[in-house]
Amino acid sequence: MPERVSMTTKVYVTRRIPKAGLSMLRSAFDAVRVHDSDEPPARAELLAAVRGCVGLLAMLTERVDAELLDAAGPQLRVVANYAVGHDNVDLAECTRRGVLLTNTPDVLTDATADLAWTLLMAAARRVVEADRLVRSGGWSGWAPLQMLGVSVASRTLGIVGAGRIGSAVARRSAGFDMRVLYCDARANPDLERELGARRVALGALLEKSDFVSLHVPLTEGTRGLIGGRELGRMKPGAILVNTSRGPVVDEEALAEALRERRIGAAGLDVYTDEPRLAPGLAMLDNAVLAPHMGSATHEARQRMAELAAENLIVGARGGEPPNCVNLEAHG
Ligand code: GLV
Ligand code: GLV
Repeated sequence: MPERVSMTTKVYVTRRIPKAGLSMLRSAFDAVRVHDSDEPPARAELLAAVRGCVGLLAMLTERVDAELLDAAGPQLRVVANYAVGHDNVDLAECTRRGVLLTNTPDVLTDATADLAWTLLMAAARRVVEADRLVRSGGWSGWAPLQMLGVSVASRTLGIVGAGRIGSAVARRSAGFDMRVLYCDARANPDLERELGARRVALGALLEKSDFVSLHVPLTEGTRGLIGGRELGRMKPGAILVNTSRGPVVDEEALAEALRERRIGAAGLDVYTDEPRLAPGLAMLDNAVLAPHMGSATHEARQRMAELAAENLIVGARGGEPPNCVNLEAHG
């Protein structure tokens, strides 16, 4: 455990997080202020609380931009994002000011891949709709044509973004004897060797896959990646799963495609304007909707807390944090 940075160093944690991470911070710094809530701090509160901090432990719901970095002041050394995605942070502004940005990769890979499969299976077999039927008292007993879904085994899984999480989702398909297609700027020879996965262009993946699962980070290049045109290229019964970031999909176009049954179903964990949903989405039986909970296991959230704390402590002490995404800011 690193020693205390100095008597005056302050850090701010923008939400309640698992205790393990907080105790690491409390033994490294004298002043650890926590926004002791499950709700995000109001913007004005956040801007006031970061003032004079050497480190900020932020959630994906906090916009970390020039205004916030200015409000913190020039002593700020590190922003430890409690997430693997960091589209909530203005990376260029951090780098320009020599502020390190860190994330929490690896520790949430399995949890998120599990959730992608949960959504895929739930959408394929209509589990949420079926649960509603049973609870409502509307179930009249077993019937041959009731609640028919689609089979998963031996079909084609398309992985968009074959990084850590996309690869973990692909590997889980082995037990279902699926054919795996992927699209990524980089080839993934491990997936090709292990699963016989084939790298194809996005258009071909959409046309050939029965299940399409999205695992790209949100960047200017992936915003709106799946719009009306792309949805139109999917097979009529295909299922779209999104555990990445909402704005990767044009949510209104998706709601329309689902409503008109141009695709079979969707399993979504993320939305364009969380926690709001595109109009009509909540009314659709062929959409399974989760509240951005990909990493929400006890294990993953605890390890994220420890990793974010470690990143913050090392960064505040002037070292190179294990998960720094802008080491060029290290001066
Ligand atoms: C969650 O969405 C994350 O990026 O960790
Ligand atoms: C279904 O419950 C069956 O036994 O086929």
